[in-house]
Amino acid sequence: MSNSREYDVSLIKSEFPVFSKNIYGKQLVYLDNAASSQKPNIVIDKMANAYRYEYANVHRGLHYLSNKATENYEDARKTVAEFINSNHVNEIVFTKNATEALNLVAHSYGGEMLTEGDEIILTIMEHHSNIVPWHFLREKNKIKIKWLSVNDDGDIDLDEFRSLITDKTKLISLTHMSNVLGTVLPIKEMIAIAHDKNIPVVVDGTQAIVHHKVDVQDLDVDFYVFTGHKLYGPSGIGVLYGKSDYLEKMVPYQGGGEMIEEVYTDRVVYGKPPQRFEAGTPAIIQSLGLKVAIDYINTIGQEKILQHENLLKDYAENKLKDIDGLKIIGNSKTKGAIFSFILEGIHPHDVSTIIDRSGVAVRAGMHCAEPLLARYNVQSTCRASFAMYNTIEDVDILCNSLLECKKFFR
Ligand SMILES: Cc1ncc(COP(=O)(O)O)c(C=O)c1O
Repeated sequence: MSNSREYDVSLIKSEFPVFSKNIYGKQLVYLDNAASSQKPNIVIDKMANAYRYEYANVHRGLHYLSNKATENYEDARKTVAEFINSNHVNEIVFTKNATEALNLVAHSYGGEMLTEGDEIILTIMEHHSNIVPWHFLREKNKIKIKWLSVNDDGDIDLDEFRSLITDKTKLISLTHMSNVLGTVLPIKEMIAIAHDKNIPVVVDGTQAIVHHKVDVQDLDVDFYVFTGHKLYGPSGIGVLYGKSDYLEKMVPYQGGGEMIEEVYTDRVVYGKPPQRFEAGTPAIIQSLGLKVAIDYINTIGQEKILQHENLLKDYAENKLKDIDGLKIIGNSKTKGAIFSFILEGIHPHDVSTIIDRSGVAVRAGMHCAEPLLARYNVQSTCRASFAMYNTIEDVDILCNSLLECKKFFR
C-alpha cells in the first residue's frame, strides 16, 4: 500500500468514531494509548462485514465460506510478515496477545532449553508479561534471572549489559520500548552483542511497533512479540515472530485441533510451525482486523505518524515541565510520546479521576511494571500516552486539566 496520503490529523481523528461522541459533554482527549488504542472505522467495518458475510471456521472446511475465512486469515499472516519484513510467512505465529506470545517462548523454548544454573537477562523496565513467564522458569527449571538496570533518566548502559553476560547466559529478553518511561532501547546493538556470544534474544515490541518501523531481518532478532489492540487493531490477537530455525525445533505450547499432523492412541505427530503453535480455533475475525489496521497504518505512513507523534512529544514535554510540582519519570533522549508523571502531593488515582471529568483519559497505577516503579521509589504514576490521532489541542487540554486539578487540591 502506498504512503501517498498527506498527514491530516483532523481527517485521521474523524476516521475514529469514538471521537464523534462527547464524554461528560466534553470532547474526548484519549491519552491511554499505551494501554490500548482506539479503532478506525475501517477496522470496525471490515470486521463487522466479515462476521456478516465471510464467517466460518478456518482450515477445516471445504465449502466457500470456510475457504474465504481461511484466505483472510492467511492473508493477515502475509500482511504481518511484510509489515515486519519477516523472511517467511511461516515465521509468524498468531497468539491471543503479546502476553501469550511471551509465555509461548518461555514455555516452548525456555522450558526445553534452559536448565538449572542457566542465566537469562531481563531489563528492570520490562512489563510483567516479560517477567512472570521467566519467573515460572526460575521456579520450575531453577534458572537465574539477572537484571539490567536503568539510570535516573531511564537509559540502560551497554557496558553494564556486556558485564551481565557470562558463559551461563542462555537467553536475553528485552523490551524494545518501555511502556512507562517511553525509552527506546538500542536493541540492534544489544542483539549484536548477544549474538557475538551465540545467545538468542527475545524482544517485546508491544509498544515500539506502534511508533517505529520494525525490520526483524535488519535487527536480526530471534523472537519479536507484539499485540493487535495497541496497533489500532482488535484485542484477542497477538503476534510471535520467530526465526524458522528456532520455531522448527520448539515443542508445542498447547495441544488440540489444528496443531497436529497425525494423532493415534499411542502417539502424535505435531504439525509444522506456525500451525504447531496455533492449537484450536484461532482469532479468525481479529486477524482480519489486524490486517486492516496494518493496511491503514501503511496508508498513512509509519514515518509520518512518528514525525507527528514526535512533535506532540516535544510540545507536551515543554508544557508538562512548566507545571509546578509535576515530575516526569523518564527523560531519555530516545523517549517516545509516553509520559509517566506524578503531581506533587496528589495521588495519581485522584489526578486521573479528576481530569477524567474534563474528558481526559490517562492511566494511573503501576502499569504492570512493579520492579521499574520500585526503582524510582514510586508506587504509581499517571501516564499520558499519545497516538496518531492526538493533537496539540489535546496536550493543551491535558495541561489545563492538570492545573485545574492542582487548584482543586490546594
Ligand atoms: C511493553 C508491553 N509488553 C507487553 C504488554 C502486554 O500486552 P497484552 O496485554 O496485549 O498481552 C504490554 C501491555 O501493556 C506492554 O506495554
